[in-house]
Amino acid sequence: MLKSIACGALRTGDIDGDVILGGWVHRRRDHGGLIFIDLRDWQGIVQVVFNPDVSPQAHGIAQGLRNEWVLRIKGRVSRRPAGTENLRLPTGEVEVVVNDMEVLNTSKTPPFSVEEEAAEADEFLRLKYRYLDLRRPRVRENLILRHRVVKFMRDFLCQRGFIEVETPILTKSTPEGARDYLVPSRIYPGQFYALPQSPQQMKQLLMVGGIERYFQIARCFRDEDPRADRQPEFTQLDVEMSFVEEEDILGLTEELFTSLVESVVPEKRVLRPFPRLSHADALARFGTDKPDLRFGMELGDLSDIAAASRFQVFRRAIESGGVVKGLAAPGCATYTRHQLEELTGFARERGAPGLVTMALDGEPGSSLDDLAEGDVRSAVARHISLEEVRQIAARTGARRGDLLLMVAAAPRVVDMALSQLRHEMGHRLKLADPSLLALAFVVNFPLFDWNQEEGRWDSAHHPFTAPREEDMPLLGEAPARVGSKAYDMVCNGVELASGSIRIHRRDVQERIFGLLGYTAEQMEERFGHLLEALEYGAPPHGGIAPGIDRLVQLLADAISIREVIAFPKTQNAVDPLFGAPSKVNEAQLRELHLRLLEE
Ligand code: AMO
Repeated sequence: MLKSIACGALRTGDIDGDVILGGWVHRRRDHGGLIFIDLRDWQGIVQVVFNPDVSPQAHGIAQGLRNEWVLRIKGRVSRRPAGTENLRLPTGEVEVVVNDMEVLNTSKTPPFSVEEEAAEADEFLRLKYRYLDLRRPRVRENLILRHRVVKFMRDFLCQRGFIEVETPILTKSTPEGARDYLVPSRIYPGQFYALPQSPQQMKQLLMVGGIERYFQIARCFRDEDPRADRQPEFTQLDVEMSFVEEEDILGLTEELFTSLVESVVPEKRVLRPFPRLSHADALARFGTDKPDLRFGMELGDLSDIAAASRFQVFRRAIESGGVVKGLAAPGCATYTRHQLEELTGFARERGAPGLVTMALDGEPGSSLDDLAEGDVRSAVARHISLEEVRQIAARTGARRGDLLLMVAAAPRVVDMALSQLRHEMGHRLKLADPSLLALAFVVNFPLFDWNQEEGRWDSAHHPFTAPREEDMPLLGEAPARVGSKAYDMVCNGVELASGSIRIHRRDVQERIFGLLGYTAEQMEERFGHLLEALEYGAPPHGGIAPGIDRLVQLLADAISIREVIAFPKTQNAVDPLFGAPSKVNEAQLRELHLRLLEE
């Protein structure tokens, strides 16, 4: 090695020892006689001192050093003079007095300071110069955390008899509800490979192949519309087991995540046992299937109260098949008109036709038994009786001092707006304990979702998910009511994992494909390989796939998924460092039998 010890590792125990250090110039201070340099490597920073009396030659070179130059230094560790210690640095009690130095490389002035806090530099610039960005502690620490998370997962599953199997990247479309990334074949003109949206079918075929406990740190590719917590390529811990039921997968997942948090991020805590919510309950209570369970502020269904009220807006919403739901924001009765308008705007931007607000004045937290008309402040107060206000308060848990927020519209619209309002208010009111990872399972998903635009059924999870046996008779006449053996694991408002027990019989799988609108030919063409495999003694099986990027983002309290990926794409699916995607030359296109359309 060109160095004998890491800069950040030096302590008082090393005093009087000779060391060789290698690292980057983090900062330089010229004090006339002495020159000080903070030398940085990936373990941290140590102060090195150039004294003209010790080595005039090294001191001479030190005068020309600039930030980010790469140095190799030989010197002796000594105690810093009393009063000059830097207690903020783990190495702050020592310094290295240089007796020889070599400049291994120079550096241009970086486009942003590597000392700067990550969030302050422009993100595009940070990603274009990611190799400089990685020199900052924050992203580097995220990568180290990610490594520890993945290592823990591997060890945990290996100890339980799982084996890691790699599955192909060049394959055929395996649907998870997104568009495929396609790769043209040179050898077969006009034909394409698809990159896997997940190894879903592959892991099922491994089960047919008798590999009873599989996992993989699997890269997945999805051409989806960008969102803050999505990347076009991302990583899953993909797991599948044979001869299991839902309970086995949920139990294994709970054990994995509990021990992972205890061991890798002990400063965080989880709730045990993980709460379980049915999909229907999650929607009713939180308006979303990925609720943040760190705080209450649950939604109340006010539809029956609304239907019987004098308030036209409420009544009309119910008459046209809608619902009215609301929540109570604690202590927000004092909101100004401006704040209320802002909240209304927030709800409108999220699809609500409007927001009914109602402030309940009085001693905060006190009961509403003696509520008087003057205590209810709302543009619609005269349309809603005091008795109705009391009923609404009872459904939403409101007390005096709270602000009621209500939306009347179609169920999906109400849930969408109120769940986001709940999330936003929870955040603004700091209701969530930042050290809590409120991991929970959402179970009993429906098998199908109705796709309004295309007038057909979609799989709520994916088409390989098993229906509940008891609901099989409903497949014919009431697909909407068929429950599935799918489950999600959620945490603090994020969907962290999805999985299901799979269909392992050909007749059932064909029936589901049929309900999803595939013709016999389409089934054969797209899924013939899987259907055939199910005819050769496929065992019952199931699994789950936690998203590693989202998990590490949560564990690191990172502001975006891109903070925990070494070389992420931007929100617009661009890689600014390599400049991908990019044009290719004519010869490459010709080889692939492609011609571009002029657009
Ligand atoms: P699903 O599609 O729900 O299930 O994905 C599982 C988990 O992967 C993560 N995830 C993503 N992370 C970052 N960027 C994305 N674009 C992205 N999409 C998904 C989420 C999600 O919960 N084959 C099934 C799993 C199974 O049934 O076993 C699947 O892929 O954390």
